[in-house]
Amino acid sequence: MGAFFVRRDRRVVKVQSEDEARIAYDLVAEGYAALLDGELERLPLERAMLTAFLEQVEAGGGGPIADLGCGPGRVAGFLAGIGADMRGIDLSPGMIAVARRDHPAIPFEVASMAELPFGDGELAGALAWYSIIHVPQDLQDAVFAEFARALRPGGMLLLAFQVSEDGDEDIVHLRQAYGHEIDLRTRRQSPARVERRLAEAGFAQLAQLVREPIASEKSRQAFLLARRCVPAQRMAGSGSAAS
Ligand SMILES: C[S@@+](CC[C@H](N)C(=O)[O-])C[C@H]1O[C@@H](n2cnc3c(N)ncnc32)[C@H](O)[C@@H]1O
Repeated sequence: MGAFFVRRDRRVVKVQSEDEARIAYDLVAEGYAALLDGELERLPLERAMLTAFLEQVEAGGGGPIADLGCGPGRVAGFLAGIGADMRGIDLSPGMIAVARRDHPAIPFEVASMAELPFGDGELAGALAWYSIIHVPQDLQDAVFAEFARALRPGGMLLLAFQVSEDGDEDIVHLRQAYGHEIDLRTRRQSPARVERRLAEAGFAQLAQLVREPIASEKSRQAFLLARRCVPAQRMAGSGSAAS
């Protein structure tokens, strides 16, 4: 009985949080894309993490990479520009329309990070660039498990998110953004907690970069690169290669 209610509550949290993100990002899609266009050109540390991520995927034999919560597709576009085999998904049809318009060579579709439209082990790489910031902690384990399902053993995962300086999670409620009134929660997170949750889902952290805020940012920014463990490594509890 108790388990039933927990499951039902998670379902409600999922629907509510996804509705909230979809409504907000449909509204701001054009303004968001215009404002962030070209931003990566001014961010050498972000480009370094994205390039390292792609090199790690290629070192593992290469293959398809998915941008999860891709928004207007700017990060997928950057990676495709340096040779990645990209595709992208996002909850917001408005964002997906902009992504298709701005990056017509990349396949994008409307989907949830909690139910990826990819087969088991289909992906060589996945990135969630400021998109897990909208996933409530109750749902994060399920989302990371879904990332693990879609990635092949040895596949690479790259996350970007704002750092919480106030415990595991620091929720910021946005009422206005990109010229619109919105109602959207974003979640700054503790990199140590994200690393632990990823380990539970079957990932081993490879690198973590935390940089100081720049320009109008109000928090530090974290970039976490992890590898999907092969099953034997998980069972052994090592989480990394023998050396
Ligand atoms: C801050 S934007 C980042 C977009 C893009 N990654 C970028 O850096 O430009 C967050 C994006 O995540 C998407 N998103 C939020 N929750 C999602 C979910 N559960 N599944 C798929 N996309 C989601 C939103 O619709 C939005 O486009």
